[in-house]
Amino acid sequence: MQALEYEYPGKNSEKFHFGPASTQFKRGEITFVTGGNGSGKSTLAKLLLGLYRPSAGSIYLGDQKIDNHNLLHYRAMFSAIFVDFHLFDQILPSEKDTTALVNYYLKQLNLQDKVSIEDGRLSTTKLSQGQRRRLALMMSFLDKKPVCVFDEWAADQDPLFRDVFYRKILRALAALKKVVIVISHDSAYFKYADRIIQMDYGKVREKKVARS
Ligand SMILES: Nc1ncnc2c1ncn2[C@@H]1O[C@H](COP(=O)(O)OP(=O)(O)OP(=O)(O)O)[C@@H](O)[C@H]1O
Ligand SMILES: [Mg+2]
Repeated sequence: MQALEYEYPGKNSEKFHFGPASTQFKRGEITFVTGGNGSGKSTLAKLLLGLYRPSAGSIYLGDQKIDNHNLLHYRAMFSAIFVDFHLFDQILPSEKDTTALVNYYLKQLNLQDKVSIEDGRLSTTKLSQGQRRRLALMMSFLDKKPVCVFDEWAADQDPLFRDVFYRKILRALAALKKVVIVISHDSAYFKYADRIIQMDYGKVREKKVARS
């Protein structure tokens, strides 16, 4: 993103102004986005996904500028889990071994006793918040999109699974050469990032780190 700016619609003298913000994301790289409440982390993610149209600046995919002609194609590259995510019970039946894969993931996510797959659909989405978020994570794996965005995904996970997420899952996604963007307050896990972006009143500050 280059010199991206955004303001939420409506009149307000104390209005939040995002940007101008410039940064780039690479395949195989884990970027953590941190910063205080209301600093603009979720706004950054929504701008990056093309859900909000910037008032100034542009997004480039390589050297291709994203505009109305290629926006849908661009958006299709993202798999994102926001705080207010919605869970669909339909599994995409694009591959013949989806059932085996789903069962494998359900086991990895410790949901095998809660959810099963019946005729390409999940048996239930009536689960606890943390379990629903794990299910959303599985849907994100099945999506096979090149960019994964997790907005405070781990916030309602138990310590054990939170550890699995930061130490194993993020690394596995990065190993698949995906762009991995993680909005997080879990500073204990920042050492697993390749890059940390600190949001501060709508401004982007970069910190360089070495992944351990
Ligand atoms: N839908 C909205 N309409 C108007 N203003 C908004 C809206 N959503 C967010 N804002 C404003 O934008 C600012 C940044 O919000 P954002 O959701 O990006 O913060 P955040 O860093 O994700 O915070 P949190 O840690 O609480 O999730 C907020 O301070 C708020 O004033
Ligand atoms: Mg947020």
